[in-house]
Amino acid sequence: MIEISGVSKRFNGWSAVSDLDLEVAEGELAVLVGTSGSGKSTTLKMLNRLIEPDCGVIRIAGRDIRSQPPEILRRHIGYAIQSVGLFPHWTVEQNIAAVPQLLKWPQARIRARVEELLEVLQLPARQFRQRYPHQLSGGQQQRVGVARALAADPDVLLMDEPFGALDPVTRATLQQELARIQQLFGKTVILVTHDIDEALLLGQRIVVMDQGRIVQQGGARDILLTPANGFVREFFNPAEVGVRLLGLVRVEERMRRGEHADGAAIRADSTLREALSVFITRKVPALPVEDGQGARLGALRFDDLLGARA
Ligand SMILES: Nc1ncnc2c1ncn2[C@@H]1O[C@H](COP(=O)(O)OP(=O)(O)OP(=O)(O)O)[C@@H](O)[C@H]1O
Ligand SMILES: [Mg+2]
Repeated sequence: MIEISGVSKRFNGWSAVSDLDLEVAEGELAVLVGTSGSGKSTTLKMLNRLIEPDCGVIRIAGRDIRSQPPEILRRHIGYAIQSVGLFPHWTVEQNIAAVPQLLKWPQARIRARVEELLEVLQLPARQFRQRYPHQLSGGQQQRVGVARALAADPDVLLMDEPFGALDPVTRATLQQELARIQQLFGKTVILVTHDIDEALLLGQRIVVMDQGRIVQQGGARDILLTPANGFVREFFNPAEVGVRLLGLVRVEERMRRGEHADGAAIRADSTLREALSVFITRKVPALPVEDGQGARLGALRFDDLLGARA
């Protein structure tokens, strides 16, 4: 769906992105991580032609992005930026409706879409629709920015630290919502984040950048277990690798069906990392496991955290 080949970009003779090759399949969610200044935002901006590469080719859906004017290209790519970038003299509703207006959607459809998105992003329409960006908190502005990116239902979403300014609870809700939208509608997403746990949670593929180059890409487990070099190892913090690996596995994959344990149950869809936390706080050797409806399914023993039984 997205093919970047041999792309470089220099600013004032200084390399921001060097000879980048990256492919993101249709319906895939790739996460870009890396130190500040490693070229992540520049990469996203080259995809919607806010920045033109010095060399190389970028194709989206098989088509060289230079074959259409930038403003037409951007109507089909949702883009949520690091600095939010709302139009200050437009209301929340007008900001979200920007691309649907350009695409000449009927007004009733635009209005319904704005309401739907405000709902999803937990900004009640009655309260927020008519406000201006300066009347919103930083996190609320950020959510309007995400709504604007989603508005015209684009197949490709570029998200540059879209949840940076949010509290952990709202952030977790929106992460789940993004994962749901992406899977349900098969969106191709490139997400930039500084939050390693967010990257591991959402990324079907994780792309690690350093100094304008990709130093490693792969699944979360591969990157945690076999970092390509010292930079990647340090980036994922060796002291956290164990719990992060536990965070990749659901309780249902390790639990013993039909086995009994006492106490309050944990949900089968929680992660082993969450289970570890419950083990440590309760100081018990086994936890009962239930499904989403509260029906008991079995038990998880502490040892099960170590691996699947033989
Ligand atoms: N318009 C510009 N003019 C000059 N230099 C630029 C410009 N945009 C980016 N750079 C430089 O290019 C490099 C890569 O910047 P980029 O914004 O892509 O980094 P990033 O990985 O997104 O960093 P962060 O995590 O801090 O957002 C940086 O050194 C930055 O200073
Ligand atoms: Mg950036």
